[in-house]
Amino acid sequence: DAPETVTPTGVPTGAQKSLHSQSGAWLTTAQGARLYDTDHSLKAGARGPSLLQDHHLREKIMHFDHERIPERVVHARGAGAHGTFVANGAAAGVTKAGFLASGVETPVFVRFSTVVGSRGSADTVRDTRGFATKFYTDEGTFDLVGNNIPVFFIQDGIKFPDVVHAAKPHPDREIPQAQSAHDTFWDFVSLHTEAQAHTMWFMADRGIPRSYRTMEGFGVHTFRLQNAAGETTLVKFHWKPKQGVHSLVWEEALMINGTDPDFHRRDLADAIEAGAFPEWELGIQTFPDTPDETFEGIDLLDPTKIVPEELAPVQVIGTMTLNANPTNYFAETEQVAFHPGHLVPGIDVTNDALLQARLFSYLDTQLTRLGGPNFSQIPINRPQAPVNDMFRDGFHQTAVHAGAAPYRPNSIDGGCPFLAGEDMSAYIEVPQELPASAKKREKPASFDDHFSQARLFYLSLAPVEQEHVAQAYTFELGKCYEENIRKRQLQALANIDADLCAKVAAGLGLEAPAPTVELGDPEPSAALSQLRGSWPLA
Ligand code: HEM
Repeated sequence: DAPETVTPTGVPTGAQKSLHSQSGAWLTTAQGARLYDTDHSLKAGARGPSLLQDHHLREKIMHFDHERIPERVVHARGAGAHGTFVANGAAAGVTKAGFLASGVETPVFVRFSTVVGSRGSADTVRDTRGFATKFYTDEGTFDLVGNNIPVFFIQDGIKFPDVVHAAKPHPDREIPQAQSAHDTFWDFVSLHTEAQAHTMWFMADRGIPRSYRTMEGFGVHTFRLQNAAGETTLVKFHWKPKQGVHSLVWEEALMINGTDPDFHRRDLADAIEAGAFPEWELGIQTFPDTPDETFEGIDLLDPTKIVPEELAPVQVIGTMTLNANPTNYFAETEQVAFHPGHLVPGIDVTNDALLQARLFSYLDTQLTRLGGPNFSQIPINRPQAPVNDMFRDGFHQTAVHAGAAPYRPNSIDGGCPFLAGEDMSAYIEVPQELPASAKKREKPASFDDHFSQARLFYLSLAPVEQEHVAQAYTFELGKCYEENIRKRQLQALANIDADLCAKVAAGLGLEAPAPTVELGDPEPSAALSQLRGSWPLA
């Protein structure tokens, strides 16, 4: 008769677990009635027909028929793990978020994923990887829904359906599965050249990580922090793996895809089971919250741009350790619902137009994926802070709400007062001047440069990494049917680096075009190369 509880990261224990754990001395129906046989349906005679009266048959088959839920529209294939995050207090000066105060330990659940492939696709494909972390803090859940690449394909979320449609398999043949070797993908990135920097990152070795344990993670967007004094700071979040950053080489990735398509999820689970708990340091780059929201000429609202660590060093603010595997894949890894709008006091979003669209998208898709509006009651999604939201009813409601007047103020039972001091709110809502101009569907001029950071990244790589990049473009573009698409992508490469363009053109048997933009001479950034990384490898 243990009380209903959940472990810090949502696994049911006690009475609730015994109800759902499917253990016990005998088998029962879903109603708990004892069964003596679950292998033979009730029939009119040994050879049938089956009788409609066999409730157990119908209940068993009915439940099986409805076992599947839709896979995620992107990031369908993933692997999760439980752990803890311990803050070192270095962020306490810039944010009042309680879980970032010195020594505070917070339970976390992390889900790593590929982006394009379906749930059953292979792990070691060339793709971006998701790195989503749920912090179950005392002040509410904070989700850092990031990737292993610090820039994104597009600058405005309104293009997200387009880039995903271009990257997913062609609608007629449904090929290729889970890789970037096809016409629509290269058509998109060569026409929407803002995607070139992101493409360069995953054509490099970062696109085929050795392990989830050896990936960096990035919040990508700029976020706004606020401290107890009300002062705000702009930041970018970074996860740095203590295991170092390591990748496969392409031939290994191809072989592993065939011999062990579960390579990354097996690696993560095996390491944790063996007690080799992977660790990441969480860091922030900080920027003054100026009205123009730029830093050293870089528009901080442009998610296709990084700020090199030489200009803004990453300061470590805590350490995460993953130390427990999920008990049940479906209950935890599949049903977990991340959302960039899950914020706590002291952390807020910015006007980045990609982030703004995400704030709508995740909740919207989860309504379908998880069957209605009550999915925050699923154990893995339950906040560890008290919830008092005045919501009622809906599909899959498992709470029995008390009280007659779910509105405030009310004169029936008093409702619930706001916390003293509205500054405890998760939403910072810094007063900002809005431009006086009319509504516009356009992009700012500061988003126009699509090539210089792809060049900065390429020039920061060691020669062997550059060689891998040239081979990757040659391989992937070689799979395109349309020559005009290959040529257009070569033009984009010419605008990034003449040498790289010449190598890929030679590999494809095409002529290398001349650049149409002026190629700058950026300072290489050490942190961008896996072989010359500034981060100490464990
Ligand atoms: C998953 C939309 C950009 C990281 C998803 C899902 C959707 C989505 C619909 C599936 C969620 C679910 O079914 O629970 C979008 C839109 C974007 C966008 C509309 C741009 C406008 C990004 C960016 C990042 C990112 C920039 C990284 C910074 C992720 C991750 C997941 C995910 C890690 C997997 C979460 C999990 O493991 O459950 N996204 N996304 N997305 N997205 Fe995005």
